[in-house]
Amino acid sequence: MAIPDPIVARAQQLRDEILHHNQRYYVLDDPQIPDAEYDRLLRQLQAIEQQYPELITADSPTQRVGGTPLKGFAEVRHDLPMLSLNNAFDDGEVNEFDQRVRKLLALDEDAPPVAYVAEPKLDGLAISLRYEAGSLVRAATRGDGVSGEDVTQNIRTIASIPLQLSAGDYPPLLEVRGEVYMSKRGFAQLNSRQLAREEKAFANPRNAAAGSLRQLDSEVTATRPLEFYCYGIGVVSDVFSVASHHQLMAQLRRWGLRVQPQMAVVMGAAGCVDYYQQLNKARDQLPYEIDGVVYKVDEIEQQQRIGAVSRAPRWALARKFPAQEEMTRLLAIDIQVGRTGALTPVARLEPVNVGGVTVTNATLHNEEEIQRKDIRVGDTVIVRRAGDVIPNIVAVVMARRSAGSEPFQMPQQCPVCGADAQRSADEVVTRCSGGLYCAAQRKEAIKHFASRRALDIEGLGDKLVEQLVARGLVNSVADLYKLDAQQLATLERMAEKSANNLVEALERSKATTLARFIYALGIREVGEVTAASLANHYGSLENLMAADGESLEEVSDVGAVVAAHVVAFFKQAHNREVVAALRDAGVHWPDIKVVARADLPYAGKTFVLTGTLSTLSREQAKEHLQALGAKVSGSVSAKTDYVVAGEKAGSKLAKAEKLGITVLDEAALIKLLESAMGREVRDDSIE
Ligand code: IVH
Repeated sequence: MAIPDPIVARAQQLRDEILHHNQRYYVLDDPQIPDAEYDRLLRQLQAIEQQYPELITADSPTQRVGGTPLKGFAEVRHDLPMLSLNNAFDDGEVNEFDQRVRKLLALDEDAPPVAYVAEPKLDGLAISLRYEAGSLVRAATRGDGVSGEDVTQNIRTIASIPLQLSAGDYPPLLEVRGEVYMSKRGFAQLNSRQLAREEKAFANPRNAAAGSLRQLDSEVTATRPLEFYCYGIGVVSDVFSVASHHQLMAQLRRWGLRVQPQMAVVMGAAGCVDYYQQLNKARDQLPYEIDGVVYKVDEIEQQQRIGAVSRAPRWALARKFPAQEEMTRLLAIDIQVGRTGALTPVARLEPVNVGGVTVTNATLHNEEEIQRKDIRVGDTVIVRRAGDVIPNIVAVVMARRSAGSEPFQMPQQCPVCGADAQRSADEVVTRCSGGLYCAAQRKEAIKHFASRRALDIEGLGDKLVEQLVARGLVNSVADLYKLDAQQLATLERMAEKSANNLVEALERSKATTLARFIYALGIREVGEVTAASLANHYGSLENLMAADGESLEEVSDVGAVVAAHVVAFFKQAHNREVVAALRDAGVHWPDIKVVARADLPYAGKTFVLTGTLSTLSREQAKEHLQALGAKVSGSVSAKTDYVVAGEKAGSKLAKAEKLGITVLDEAALIKLLESAMGREVRDDSIE
């Protein structure tokens, strides 16, 4: 049966539209339609194709996943070898590279600096994509550079790789080269999913990307958050007229391929060094991991004159960042007791320099993590320090394990108070059952109570809390308000003046807010934002203390677990006594007039956040805005009321300006938040 013309035309139109929106979303980072609308287009096309399977084309956007699992990957010989890069580890080597380039180009000393393209070196896997008549026909890994593996089925599942190039002026044959990688966020989400299913966690985003791409079943790959950036080309059937690498990249971008937005043209060795320093500073803020900078001579004609030797072009160089992983010995596993009694194993390491910082401790998270990696005291381990996160142990070097080592076991008793340590069936955490009888938990509870975002008792530092608890001067947070200057002056490192100051600070801390007070109590999983929601919802402590689980779950961001923690906290006589004692001591706050959601100051307003904020994270800004009733959306449209533009805001800002939407800079956002919340906005993590 012939397919009616309007249906054929509609299918084609939908494909074109989807292709267009893919490019807006993935390549230009500037979607024109909401995700739901995009999904509708895709579903319409699926419906037509289901009815008329003859209409399905290999490059239809519906055909990303499919085919039967493979038995193995076929070998692919690269038409042009996939070269690697020479490495440089300091500025001197970058200078030598530039000197070499100048010599090969026969430039004398007075000649102007050579133009280079600089861009981040992605820590993923090199991939070759072969497009014939604009359709993706084959994808291969780099392998040994001469031949790699055919991973076409898997590559097709990566949404940011076009199955069909856009704009019709591409050459009949085009091989695109680039890197498949996993973002930091995608990696973290994948690992928590793996752990929840009791499957192996990946050591780093690179391994996760490689493991995901080497799946024989492309349905598995389709669930993995892989992304792609291109950085060059391989074979092409026609020469197309670009004079420089940066023009080539702009052309690839027009055809629908993602190019790193940090790519820049820099002049000479000085420009290269400067770019490296800038990027090194911005490294932790990038959404994906990079291991250096790649420099390429920009002019294609110059590249050709310079050529390649053996396995690497002489016109390109990788300037590597200091390594993030090193080997060292695990000296001991200590157990720390947290505020909620959680026993956390901590690795004590033989000091080792990782990327310029001496590392002596690493987190081990919990018992399961240690068992999974089979980490034992005395082992040689690989430690990794990425950005400002606490170093962790990636793996044990099994070949160096000494005979007689013993598997780690979590203690059965709390190392501080000796109470039984318990682990409930649904938790990975082992907890001390001593509650506030445990000195460690007491200390942590007091430190938390006094912290800046809680009652903000200036001058009551960790060392002081340790002494107060050790000497039995303070057993609960309420005891803090019984301290007098004479007692305090007898403590180590306390003079009369500092003792007086502390007494004054204690006095000042008594005037607080309900939200801070709730947060200060240290109820499990009640962070600053949840505390504020609870305060706004109930208005007074009495109302909160009387609330049952059902009522609590109506509060925004309170689920069953948090609700249960709140109920359990106020059920304990001990906790109620402490609350009463604090109020008797004079801790007070104004009650809050409870506001209905629709009456919140920014109810009905839509915000879009873009660029980097320096005072608070985007997530924090979002939570604050939501607490004020606002909606926070990912894309700018005519319905957007405000766009908050941080540092390096890009296309979203441009779009807002085009649509005449109010743009706030960071200072204006902080001002707006502070005046609406009636308190300071500060940069601290939420828990
Ligand atoms: S250009 C002629 N640019 O680094 C060599 N490579 O060490 C073409 N890589 O196999 C490579 N980011 O997988 C280039 N922006 C970038 C890169 C990059 C990561 C990888 C690539 C290559 C390896 C060489």
